Amino acid sequence: MIKGFIMELQKFLHKYVSEAFQKCGLSTYPTLLYPASKPEFGHYQINGAMGAAKSLKTNPRVIAQKIVDHLDILKQEEIADGIEILGAGFINITLSGKFLSRQAFANLFDKRLGVKQQPKQIIPIDYPSANLAKEMHVGHLRASIIGDALNRVLRFLGHDSFSQDHVGDWGTQFGMLITYMVETEKVGESQVALADLEGFYRNAKKRFEESEEFANTARSYVVQLQNGDKSVLALWRRFVQVSQKHCLEVYKKLGLLVNESNLKGESSYNDDLQPTVDELVRTGIAIDSDGAKVVFLDEIKDKDDQPTPFIIQKSDGGFLYATTDLACIRYRVRQLKANRILYVVDVRQSLHFQELFATARKAGFAPENVKLEHIAFGTMMGKDGKPFKTRDGNTVKLIDLLNEAVDKAAELVRRKNPNLSEEEITNISTAVGISSIKYADLSKNRTSDYIFNWESMLSFEGNTAPYLQYAYTRIQSLLSKSGQAVEPSTDYKISATEQAEKNLLCLLLQFEDVIISVSKECMPHYLANYLFQLASSFSKFYEKYPILKETDTIKNSRLQIARLTARTLKQGMDLLGLEVLDKM
Ligand code: ARG
Repeated sequence: MIKGFIMELQKFLHKYVSEAFQKCGLSTYPTLLYPASKPEFGHYQINGAMGAAKSLKTNPRVIAQKIVDHLDILKQEEIADGIEILGAGFINITLSGKFLSRQAFANLFDKRLGVKQQPKQIIPIDYPSANLAKEMHVGHLRASIIGDALNRVLRFLGHDSFSQDHVGDWGTQFGMLITYMVETEKVGESQVALADLEGFYRNAKKRFEESEEFANTARSYVVQLQNGDKSVLALWRRFVQVSQKHCLEVYKKLGLLVNESNLKGESSYNDDLQPTVDELVRTGIAIDSDGAKVVFLDEIKDKDDQPTPFIIQKSDGGFLYATTDLACIRYRVRQLKANRILYVVDVRQSLHFQELFATARKAGFAPENVKLEHIAFGTMMGKDGKPFKTRDGNTVKLIDLLNEAVDKAAELVRRKNPNLSEEEITNISTAVGISSIKYADLSKNRTSDYIFNWESMLSFEGNTAPYLQYAYTRIQSLLSKSGQAVEPSTDYKISATEQAEKNLLCLLLQFEDVIISVSKECMPHYLANYLFQLASSFSKFYEKYPILKETDTIKNSRLQIARLTARTLKQGMDLLGLEVLDKM
């Protein structure tokens, strides 16, 4: 397994400690914990001496002392500068300032900040996957933001990850939309109507509900669409194009790593649906149940302890969301050769994904060595604790929300720095507004619901995007005030002496570990919280130790630490899809 620096160091120390245990003739094994219960960083705690003492019926502190004697090599090699026995017989190793400084110095001159590339895996990520029948709304915001952060992190680690935008561009709703398009065309207002997708959808739905004739036409269009009727497909394509264009604009505004080439909508699996069902029937995995084709899943029991049914074809021959997803898994495994597939989708679809994955495993569509993961997220709530809506109770259009964020940020930027030009205000407020929305989401554990609150997300205090952005600009201005170049120079060594400095270095050296855990557990908030901790630790440090007033050696060393902090912040923010500014 690949591990980050801190984890590797732990393994490395563990080797020394195990040897020391052996030299003491102990048959028990030590465990090494990081960080130890002491509040400062840079400590590893060894447990095991007490257990050994117990079985030997001797004093644990005596055993601990023997072990410590054998660990002197860590001091000789300047890895640790303190090895002490605490309490009943815990051993604490304190990493030396020299060791930490050496590592930090090496990272400062490494393009990847010491983060190693991993063996490449192919990782399609299912996001944002909105429905094209309507305009994108806030429900797709979380998928977009979380999916994109994971995409960035995985790419940075050397993987071939990319969005597979499973847009909802097929199914019954499209019959309704086509009917309405044809109907309004006659009244000559199609352009206007299509420009406002949301209004178009609402009107079509209203017509569908009020007119039997309209509804019948809509149903017949669906059948013709599924049978591949050329003229109906052409109508469908016109609609889908407008809707796609709208989505792509939103992606651009959000700065997502998603473009036209990532679109792989439900419609693209149309020809695979029947073969997929046939394959499942042939292998006996799906059976006939009242005319429908169903997979009964023993591994997922319903509330009456019966196997859950996963319907893959209706009795009228129609296909479902599930069928498309099965065809899609087959494609991702067989065609894309995926090693791991992530689905960044609302937690309310959890059962669907459990059933989907179980069926795909049974059918061999996804062999055991391909990891299937539902990256579930909770709902975005309004301040009232109910799902986020407009004042009059409608769903909020994503594009409106993003524009509002930029407007609010512009007000803020103007107030904070009245001397900026209009152009600067536009650039800064776009960066601040969009990043704030993203960060408000990414800084929370994705599995829970979260409350969308303009005031807190746009604040310069607390765990927010503007706070991080501002912290970065402060370091830039510190560097420019110092008269030195922003780029580091190898002439200046890092030599941490104060505990606060060592703490900061330890935190900086954890960057790789944090990124690796994000990639494994798909939890972007680990990185968000890390960056917040880093930014606040640095600013506390800077407040306590005014860097520029120090003697040259200390000043130069601390400016190097400042550079490493800035670079780590910038890299980390970039991995979360946040914009970094030099000035604000
Ligand atoms: N379009 C769906 C929705 O908006 C999400 C699709 C998720 N991806 C998938 N492969 N099922 O609810």
